[in-house]
Amino acid sequence: MNEENLIDKNIFRLISYGVYIVTCQDTKKVGCVINTLTQVSGTQNPIITISLNKNNYTNEVIRKTKKFAVSILAESMNPQVIKTFGFSSSREQDKFESVSYEEVEGIPVLNEQVCGYLLCELVDIVETETHDLFVARVVRSTVLNDLKPMTYQYYHDVVKGSAPKSAPSYVEEAITTSQDQEVWVCEVCGYVHYGPIEEGFTCPRCGVDQSHFQKQS
Ligand SMILES: Cc1cc2nc3c(=O)[nH]c(=O)nc-3n(C[C@H](O)[C@H](O)[C@H](O)COP(=O)(O)O)c2cc1C
Repeated sequence: MNEENLIDKNIFRLISYGVYIVTCQDTKKVGCVINTLTQVSGTQNPIITISLNKNNYTNEVIRKTKKFAVSILAESMNPQVIKTFGFSSSREQDKFESVSYEEVEGIPVLNEQVCGYLLCELVDIVETETHDLFVARVVRSTVLNDLKPMTYQYYHDVVKGSAPKSAPSYVEEAITTSQDQEVWVCEVCGYVHYGPIEEGFTCPRCGVDQSHFQKQS
């Protein structure tokens, strides 16, 4: 517990979430992993919210296009797809070249190891310091199969996945070291590497190269 600000970050691991991929499209197909989807109102007036980091390209594109889809990931989803959509940006990478998807009303929606999808129209944006809350109306929804949806807890406990610094649920890894040991921290996912970094090293957790590692003093 951090006594200065009275926030025990572990409390956020006790809140239940799913794991989703939010997708949208302007000049290219864009998308990212989120866990922060909440249903706000019922099936007669279906409103949801999602929280998106201000630096995420998906945030920028939904602001412009006002339309997005949410694919609900099944437990059987390939962890590599979560890595691609959750640890790299659509600014630099075409995330869709390695996944199976179809287009629904001009928006790409994943169609393998996905339980179903929602198509949403933006209603409002509530700004907070680091993340914005996108309030949206569900205009179409489809259940694709009876696969089991992945929970955030399943992602951590069974898939052994993690979240990058840009995710609201990110929890910093504690550094334990003796003074003569080099310590490097990945600026994308917070992975801590002990010892020197060799040429060609890549992050075992999120896959970025050594230029994204910062040496701790
Ligand atoms: C399990 C998991 C959960 C995540 N949850 C969120 C989230 O709720 N909101 C968010 O902004 N980013 C979240 N992220 C991080 C984004 O997916 C990540 O920053 C992504 O690279 C953004 O891509 P973009 O720049 O193409 O939008 C999550 C990542 C993972 C792996």
